[in-house]
Amino acid sequence: MEKVIDETQQGSALVMEPNKDNSRKLFIESYGCQMNFSDSEIVASILAKEGFNTTDKLEDADLVLVNTCSIREKAEQTVRKRLEKYNAVKRHNPSMKVGVLGCMAERLKSKFLEEEKIVDLVVGPDAYKDLPNLIEEVEAGRNAVNVILSKEETYADVSPVRLQSNGVSAFVSITRGCDNMCTFCVVPFTRGRERSRDPQSILEEVNDLAARGFKEITLLGQNVDSYLWYGGGLKKDFDKASEMQKATAVNFAGLLDQVAKAQPKMRIRFSTSNPQDMTLDVIETMAKHQNICKYIHLPVQSGSDRILKKMNRLHTREEYFTLIDNIRKIIPDCAISQDMIAGFPTETEEDHQDTLSLMEYVKYDFGFMFAYSERPGTMAGRKMEDDVPEPVKKRRLQEIIELQREHSLYRTQQHLGKIEEVLIEKESKKSDLHWSGRNTQNTMVVFPKEHYKVGDFVKVKIEDCTSATLLGTPVGYSDNN
Ligand code: SAH
Ligand code: F3S
Repeated sequence: MEKVIDETQQGSALVMEPNKDNSRKLFIESYGCQMNFSDSEIVASILAKEGFNTTDKLEDADLVLVNTCSIREKAEQTVRKRLEKYNAVKRHNPSMKVGVLGCMAERLKSKFLEEEKIVDLVVGPDAYKDLPNLIEEVEAGRNAVNVILSKEETYADVSPVRLQSNGVSAFVSITRGCDNMCTFCVVPFTRGRERSRDPQSILEEVNDLAARGFKEITLLGQNVDSYLWYGGGLKKDFDKASEMQKATAVNFAGLLDQVAKAQPKMRIRFSTSNPQDMTLDVIETMAKHQNICKYIHLPVQSGSDRILKKMNRLHTREEYFTLIDNIRKIIPDCAISQDMIAGFPTETEEDHQDTLSLMEYVKYDFGFMFAYSERPGTMAGRKMEDDVPEPVKKRRLQEIIELQREHSLYRTQQHLGKIEEVLIEKESKKSDLHWSGRNTQNTMVVFPKEHYKVGDFVKVKIEDCTSATLLGTPVGYSDNN
């Protein structure tokens, strides 16, 4: 099955190893993207120093924090529903405090306190280090808000605790914010301007994860290809950097190279790439290191040049095809996935057909597909009428999803008969006799457990498939163990 999801991480309690000296109880959950999940690990780390242990029982919590998503209206509604649940629990536990973090906090600011009486605390994505002070305020009976966006904050000096981890894969954030200003997208408003994290602190985190037995990391950013370290500060201020800073700057290809070399046995993934910023040297660096996974998430949003322009996506359909051709030339078995938006303002049937024909050209391995949702404050929200009727959006979305399902099946079939390296992550959802893990292309592989264990790299002969999963038999350890 293709991945038709609305929120990548659904809200469920995130828990860490308890510290016996800590007595306060934190219930923290995360909605939305992987970056939110990664931020929640930073928040839990900051609060562990304030005497908090995590709990998965809402009823027991002294403090409830929800990391929120604003990307589509439905994501916000999900969070509001969740607040109702907190309200019901608070009736039995009146001293419980509730805080909202993340993109909704940033978008709604102190309005949140008026709109949702249950909320005591509103904290934007760049203000988590202020949480100890803010919580003190709340405990003294006052509401607290900090939604100041920063030019510098990357939390490089906070060593995140790993929440709900399988001990195998971890996220490592490398940039924050986004400067791309796609007209539909709320992220530049909620997460601020783009800044990169010091490569040294990234390498230290990766080395530490390796030492603790992790086998795979995903470098995270809204737009990873735009990574640029020149000593700190906003990406847009790079022009003002000194000659020395410019000469020693590290771009994304450079960072990938350093990380891959530092831990040659560790799998390296990254997300997300914006086609307009992805350069050939990134693809060449991927090809150079066998431990960089052969998978690129390359959202395109639409196949129509007219719509791409209205979205402020700064590439054409032809340029996208050239990039795809280059990826296939340099890394022939690279998997590619998409994000698509159906029903952007003014989208015609012809534009929609362009999206379908672009998909035919690429035949993506996976996809994340959405109906356009107008977001307040964005350029499209302010200047363009949301004029594609809801049933039309839904029908176009369905056509995109169905075509993706065909392509996903076509792609999984290409693995049949091959022997592929799989990193075991967890038990299969459907059977406790089977493991599940992913191959380098990020496709899920399920196979009998035999004597293998979580965290092993195993060679698996692929024998069957659905459009989302490969099924096989293990034939031995891979050399990577
Ligand atoms: N660069 C980011 C993109 C974040 S948004 C990243 O790291 O993934 C994820 C996806 O949500 C986008 O690629 C887009 O397909 C979808 N999206 C964003 N804003 C949207 C909107 N207003 N309506 C529908 N889908 C949207
Ligand atoms: Fe959003 Fe475009 Fe940035 S989709 S996160 S503004 S690359």
